Amino acid sequence: MKSRLYLNIESKRKNANFHMPGHKSRDFTKLGWEYFDTTELEGTDNLNNPQKEIREIERQISKSYASKECIISVNGSTSLIMAGIMGSCREGDCVAVARNSHKSVFSAIYYGRLKTLFIDPVLDPIYGYPVGIDLKHLEAELRKTRVRALVMTYPTYYGTCDDLNAVKHICDSHDVLLIVDEAHGAHFKHSMEFPPSSIDIGADITIHSTHKILSSLNQGAVLHVKSDRVDMENIRRHMAMLQTSSPSYPIILSVEEAVKFMNENGEKKLEKIQGFYERVKKALEGTKFTLIHDKISREILQVDKAKIWLAPGGVGKILAEDYNIDIELDDGKTALCMMGVGTVIEDVDRLITALKDISEKGLFKDSLEDSKRALFPKAGNKVMEAWEIDRMKKRMVSIKKAAGKVSASYLVPYPPGVPVVCPGEMVSDAAADYLYSMKEGSVDGMIEDKMIYILDEEQTL
Ligand SMILES: Cc1ncc(COP(=O)(O)O)c(C=O)c1O
Repeated sequence: MKSRLYLNIESKRKNANFHMPGHKSRDFTKLGWEYFDTTELEGTDNLNNPQKEIREIERQISKSYASKECIISVNGSTSLIMAGIMGSCREGDCVAVARNSHKSVFSAIYYGRLKTLFIDPVLDPIYGYPVGIDLKHLEAELRKTRVRALVMTYPTYYGTCDDLNAVKHICDSHDVLLIVDEAHGAHFKHSMEFPPSSIDIGADITIHSTHKILSSLNQGAVLHVKSDRVDMENIRRHMAMLQTSSPSYPIILSVEEAVKFMNENGEKKLEKIQGFYERVKKALEGTKFTLIHDKISREILQVDKAKIWLAPGGVGKILAEDYNIDIELDDGKTALCMMGVGTVIEDVDRLITALKDISEKGLFKDSLEDSKRALFPKAGNKVMEAWEIDRMKKRMVSIKKAAGKVSASYLVPYPPGVPVVCPGEMVSDAAADYLYSMKEGSVDGMIEDKMIYILDEEQTL
C-alpha cells in the first residue's frame, strides 16, 4: 500500500501549481531517477572535489552567467550561503545582514562564530512586510562599524528589489564584500525586462537556487564568484563539509539542464511570465484583489514579475480545496503565487477565474484589518552572540510567557524561513504575541504546546 505522503502528492497531479519548484511538475529533464542516480566512478567525477566532468559543467554554467567561477550544490542555496559566508569571513569578523535574511545566513553566523551588525529592514506601512533596506541607514552603520561583508537578499521572497547598484557603491566605499542571496533570482540574467543580476552589478558572491523559478530538481543551486577578493577554494572546502558525501547525480544534471534551458529559451519564457503577470493584474482590476507590488509606498526600483503577491490573503485554503490550485504562501494577510519556467497560460487562467469567483462571492475577510498585528515584529535587544548560547543552561517556557527572556533558539516561521527571534536575543512583546498567534508546528524552534527554549536565568551571565 502507498503511504499517505505518496498519495497526497499524487492527488495533486492535476492541480494548477503556483509554488516552488519552478518546473511545476512538468517534465523538463526526462531523466529516469534510478538510471542516473549513480556514484563517483571513472567518468562521473566528484561534486565535492570536481576535476573533470562536473567541473566542465560548472565552467559552462559560469560562462552562461559571466561569472569567474561557480560551484554546484545538491543541498540548495542553504549550504552555499553558509559556505559563501564562512569561506570568506574569519571567526570574529563582523558581517552586516538585513534582519529579514533567510535562516541559512544566521546558520553561517552561528557556525562561523561571526559577529553581526543587523540592519533593520524598511517595513511597508500598509501591510508591514520587509521590503528592502534604507541605504542612508546602511551607509551610517557601515561608517560606525568595521564590517567584512554585507549579505543582501535580492530579490526578497516577495519579489521586491533594492537598488543593488547603490548598495554595491556603498560596499566599495567601505571596502566591504558584497554577498548576494539571489536564491529567487536565477532568472534575472536571462531577460532585460527583469531586475539586473547581482553578478552583472559586481557582487563578490552570488547564490542562486535553480529550483525556485528555473527547472532543476529541488535542492539544485549554484554559487557564483565574480571577484578576486574571495578565496574560492576556501568556499569549496566549507561546501564539501556542509554537503552530503553522496551527491545526487539527477540533481547535478538537472541543474545543468535548467541552465541550458534558460540559455536556449530563457528570454522568451520570461517574456511569457511577464505577460502572465500583466494578464493577472489586468484581470483583477475591479475585483477585491490588489497586487501588492503596485501598492508599496516605498520607492522600490524593480520587482520580480514571477511573483504574484496579492492582498487580501486568507484565500490559499479556498483555492486549494475549491479550485485545485496550490499556492506558495498564504499568511492570512496576503497570498503569494509563484510562477516558474513550468507555468503555462492554462494555469494562469485557472487562477484568474478562481480569484474572480472568490472576489464575487466575497469568500474572504478583509486582511487589512488584520494588518494591525505586527507581521515582522521588532527584534528584542541582543544580549550575546547567537553561538554563545551553546554553553549556557537552558529551560523551557511557553511563548506566551517568554517576553523579556533571552531566547536559546532560532524561532523561524516557515515559509518564508526568516528568524523572528535569534538565540541570544530578548524575546520582544511583539514577537511573543506574533509567535503565539501562529499555528502549532508552523514555527521552527517552537515545540509542542508552543514552548520555546530560553536561557536559564539562574546562571550568571
Ligand atoms: C531568500 C531565500 N534564500 C535562501 C533560501 C534557501 O534556498 P534553498 O531552498 O535552495 O536551500 C530560501 C528558501 O526558500 C529563500 O527564500
